Amino acid sequence: MHIPRKGRFALLSATVAGAVVAASISVIGTAEAATTLGASAAQTGRYFGVATSAFRLTDAPYMSIVNREFTSLVAENDMKWDATEPQQGRFTFTNGDRLVSHAQANGMTVRGHTLLWHAQQPGWAQGLSGTALRTAAINHVTQVATHYRGKIHSWDVVNEAFADGGSGGRRDSNLQRTGNDWIEAAFRAARAADPGAKLCYNDYNTDGINAKSTGIYAMVRDFKARGVPIDCVGLQSHLGTSLDPTYQQNIQRFASLGVDVQITELDVQQGSDQASIFAAVTRACLAVARCTGITVWGLRDSDSWRTGQNPLLFDASGNRKPAYTAVLDALNAGGPATPGSPSSSPPVTGSSPPVTGGCSARVTLDTWNGGYVATVRVTAGPAAVNGWTVGVTVPAGSAVTSTWNAANTGTSGAVSFRNAGYNGQIPAGGYTEFGFQGTGAGPAATPTCAVG
Ligand code: XIL
Repeated sequence: MHIPRKGRFALLSATVAGAVVAASISVIGTAEAATTLGASAAQTGRYFGVATSAFRLTDAPYMSIVNREFTSLVAENDMKWDATEPQQGRFTFTNGDRLVSHAQANGMTVRGHTLLWHAQQPGWAQGLSGTALRTAAINHVTQVATHYRGKIHSWDVVNEAFADGGSGGRRDSNLQRTGNDWIEAAFRAARAADPGAKLCYNDYNTDGINAKSTGIYAMVRDFKARGVPIDCVGLQSHLGTSLDPTYQQNIQRFASLGVDVQITELDVQQGSDQASIFAAVTRACLAVARCTGITVWGLRDSDSWRTGQNPLLFDASGNRKPAYTAVLDALNAGGPATPGSPSSSPPVTGSSPPVTGGCSARVTLDTWNGGYVATVRVTAGPAAVNGWTVGVTVPAGSAVTSTWNAANTGTSGAVSFRNAGYNGQIPAGGYTEFGFQGTGAGPAATPTCAVG
């Protein structure tokens, strides 16, 4: 479903000499705010999914929430190796099939999780090694991907093959011991079996730029260079009580390799920042056009594998938590459309301001009765920028209530926004974006941009 944004028009633009230069403001008329995660994500061409299990399908209160909120399903366990091939060569697809049927009947897509992984292997595979294991593993990929051919949006072809810690290398496992090329062999077999599915590499502790995510980055770059079929990287995002400030940058660097990125198993340990971390993850995905969807790893806190951490969007009674509202608000604030989605292009109109000094800023407003979200694009001039500050005049009766990808000083009147630690550096001619939400009518005057 796509709900077009309406009523864009440029308000004004101006220029000022020197390092402080002017900007134009575009105002977007009121768009209907979506009231479910799936509908809101769909406005930018993305899916919003949930991990579930076939045994839940008969739980009516549970399923009413799933059907209302989500546009994608993934099997929390039902498509893993131990579930689908409990005895060698004997495949059981019943539970996975039931999930796929439910998704299809309700207009949802399906993520396939997962073809090969060191964990949740059937006992017979755990006992194999060498050529026997390699042959069995590739046969597993081929059989399962063939069975679900045409029905899977994205497959986690390989899960968790990299080591934690500083090595940036592979995790030891029976699969790894069959040879370093086991991952590419799996991707090639998956492509041959289901050419229509996006093929993903999926892992955890990759929630920022670190040794592990850099090791995966190098593998994906190598696969792209050598023509090994890979289409996406899954960031599981099982998060604690803080978010790595390079979270968005990490998504962006994978996207820049020419693969999609998906947030595949999102859950966040409950604490004072749970809602804001969920919102920041959502905004980071929305900020990268090739971040094409988000999946939460379970519905209610009581369903979570992280017992006692209450890391999900609904409480045990199925009530929406503050984290839910934070995600929905972030989704409704929008972001660039995914490539190939119907339209919903970034809400930028009018001509770019001439950049005579260090940087320029342009504000785009998405307004509703009583509030607004402002998206600010900061563009570097002919020289690279190292640190920036944008000044905005927020009129009387309006106040900034939250800011992302920048830090504000003041909430009304003259408000300045300083770059975050990870987005102060902008290459010559490049840009970055930050945003803020406020009450009232929003800024009407020209923003300024200064470097340094
Ligand atoms: C977990 C499930 O949620 C549990 O029900 C199961 O007992 C163990 O696996 N990374 C993954 C998921 O890729 O498959 C895991 O799911 C959580 C960590």
